[in-house]
Amino acid sequence: MNIDGRPPVTVIGLGAMGKALAGAFLDNGHPTTVWNRTAGKGGELAERGATEAATAAGAIAASPLVVVCVLDDAAVRDILSAPAASEALAGRTLVNLTNGTPRQARELARWVSAQGADYLDGGIMAVPPMIGRPGSLVLCSGSPRAFAAHERTLSATGTVSYLGEDAGRAALYDIALLSAMYGMFGGFLQAVALAGSEKVPATEFTPMVVSWLNAMITGLPNMAKAYDTNDHSATVSNLEMQATGFVNLLETGRDQGIGTELLEPMGALLHRGVAAGRGGDGLSALIDLLRTDPAKGSDAGSNDLGSE
Ligand SMILES: NC(=O)c1ccc[n+]([C@@H]2O[C@H](COP(=O)([O-])OP(=O)(O)OC[C@H]3O[C@@H](n4cnc5c(N)ncnc54)[C@H](OP(=O)(O)O)[C@@H]3O)[C@@H](O)[C@H]2O)c1
Repeated sequence: MNIDGRPPVTVIGLGAMGKALAGAFLDNGHPTTVWNRTAGKGGELAERGATEAATAAGAIAASPLVVVCVLDDAAVRDILSAPAASEALAGRTLVNLTNGTPRQARELARWVSAQGADYLDGGIMAVPPMIGRPGSLVLCSGSPRAFAAHERTLSATGTVSYLGEDAGRAALYDIALLSAMYGMFGGFLQAVALAGSEKVPATEFTPMVVSWLNAMITGLPNMAKAYDTNDHSATVSNLEMQATGFVNLLETGRDQGIGTELLEPMGALLHRGVAAGRGGDGLSALIDLLRTDPAKGSDAGSNDLGSE
């Protein structure tokens, strides 16, 4: 479907995510140019109306808005550092939806700006089949001018949340959200392995895990408030009790022949909290400990929002 007047967009990178992004732009009527390092991945998109560029530089030159979504920051640099590609960037907006760190985003923003282009960094909080559908969230930060100019086009991919001018901010949120996600997935893997050690089928056990995690998730806003107000005292589950109980998680894992490497760091942190005199506080007090480096011998600092 081509809708007259929809601005053109280029998508660089046709892995699972790049293909989904390009497909969403096509679905919304944007003339879409695609390029991928390894040829032969754009066929299905071409059948739907996309133009396959022969080179990255040609793809960049084809549209005022260039979206890049490849494996990692090194791949982005590989592509953009080729002289023809960097020369083609001038006057365009580069939106980098490749997963990366805040530092990488800020460095790339400076480099892209030096090429005479605008830069937006983004984090995709969705898996490819969700792109362009309700539930797809794309975090975005960087040039306000670029965001104002391209917000409508970018919203073909999902809900776009602009987090301000600092190009590193979207990556910070992205990595923080992924950290929460991997904590949850790690817990699930451990739980299924443990139940499975006595032949409990995962499919039978998982509904109970889901409902337990949903119940526990309701406590997060209170923990956030405790952290922001630096008052961790209002708790019905103090750290000393939790550190004592956590030993049973490790011991059961060992008894059942299940690896405990996912759990050990949490156990160590709980005990460090108690050793730091925070045994009467709630779990949120451990956030303070994560802000310190035990190797440097520093004790549990306190949350001081705005001091950095
Ligand atoms: N898939 C997801 O669920 C998901 C969700 C959120 C965010 N993301 C992020 O989206 C990005 C892309 O993920 P994906 O799922 O599309 O990965 P993928 O399917 O593994 O595809 C990787 C892409 O990167 C390209 N690439 C790798 N190294 C390159 C290099 N040195 N030069 C040029 N191109 C290079 C590959 O090109 P070739 O075809 O030539 O190898 C391919 O197009 C990643 O940063 C990922 O973290 C993915």
